[in-house]
Amino acid sequence: MICISPAHAGRPQFGDGTGDESTYEAITGEKTDDERSAWDSFYKLNANIFGKEAVSFLKDHLHEVKKGRAFVPAMGEGRNAIYLAKNGFTVDGCDLSDIAVSRALDEAKTQRVTIKGITADLTQYTYPENYYDLVMVSLFYMPELMPRFKKTLKKGGYILFYEKLDTGKPLTSVTPDDFFVKSNDLKSALKGFKIKVFKEYKDHGIDVLGVLAQKL
Ligand SMILES: C[S@@+](CC[C@H](N)C(=O)[O-])C[C@H]1O[C@@H](n2cnc3c(N)ncnc32)[C@H](O)[C@@H]1O
Repeated sequence: MICISPAHAGRPQFGDGTGDESTYEAITGEKTDDERSAWDSFYKLNANIFGKEAVSFLKDHLHEVKKGRAFVPAMGEGRNAIYLAKNGFTVDGCDLSDIAVSRALDEAKTQRVTIKGITADLTQYTYPENYYDLVMVSLFYMPELMPRFKKTLKKGGYILFYEKLDTGKPLTSVTPDDFFVKSNDLKSALKGFKIKVFKEYKDHGIDVLGVLAQKL
C-alpha cells in the first residue's frame, strides 16, 4: 500500500501555477483497486451524472452551520465541495476515483474557487482529529466510517448527510455501488450528536433523507 498523508503528499500543479488553483493529493490502497477502477470506468462513461448543483439539503441548511473548514468525503465531481468553497468554507474533498477528483478540481478552477482534492480510499485514509467544522456527505454511506467522521469533527462542528432512503421498496442501482440508507441507521449512528434537522422528503421523485447534526 502507498499511503501519503496530507502533510507529506506530493502536490502536482493544476492550473497556471499562480498559486490560487486547487490542490491535489494522492493516497492509494491496494484493497480497493477493483472498486477504484469500477468508479473510474463509471466516470469515464458519465460526466456530471450527479449534476453541477449542490444537493438541495445542503443549500437549504448551510446557513445553520458556522463557516470554517469542511471535509467532503466521496465528493465525486465536486458539486457540494465547490458550493461550500463558494460559501466561504475552506474545503478538503476526497474521492477514490482520480478522474472524479481531477474533474472536481477543474470545475473548481472554472468557477474560480479553491478546494483541496485528495484521491484516497476513505477506509485507509488518516483523518486529522478534531479538525473540521463540517463534514458533508452526499450519496455515500459506509457505516464503518462513522466513527472516523465523528472524530475528525471539532466539538460543536456539524455533520450533514443527504442520502437516498431505503424505504423497503425494490432498489435500483445506477452506479457501481449505490448507497441507500434506512432512517434508523443514521439515527443510531449519530448517537451522542444533537440532531438539528432530520428530514425525509422526495427530491426529483426520489425518496431522500437529509440530516444535520452537531457534535456535542
Ligand atoms: C454516488 S457517488 C456520490 C458523489 C458525490 N458525493 C455527489 O453527491 O455528487 C459516490 C462516490 O463515492 C466514491 N467512493 C466509493 N467508495 C469510496 C471509498 N472507499 N473511498 C472514497 N471514495 C469512495 C466514488 O468514487 C463516488 O465518487
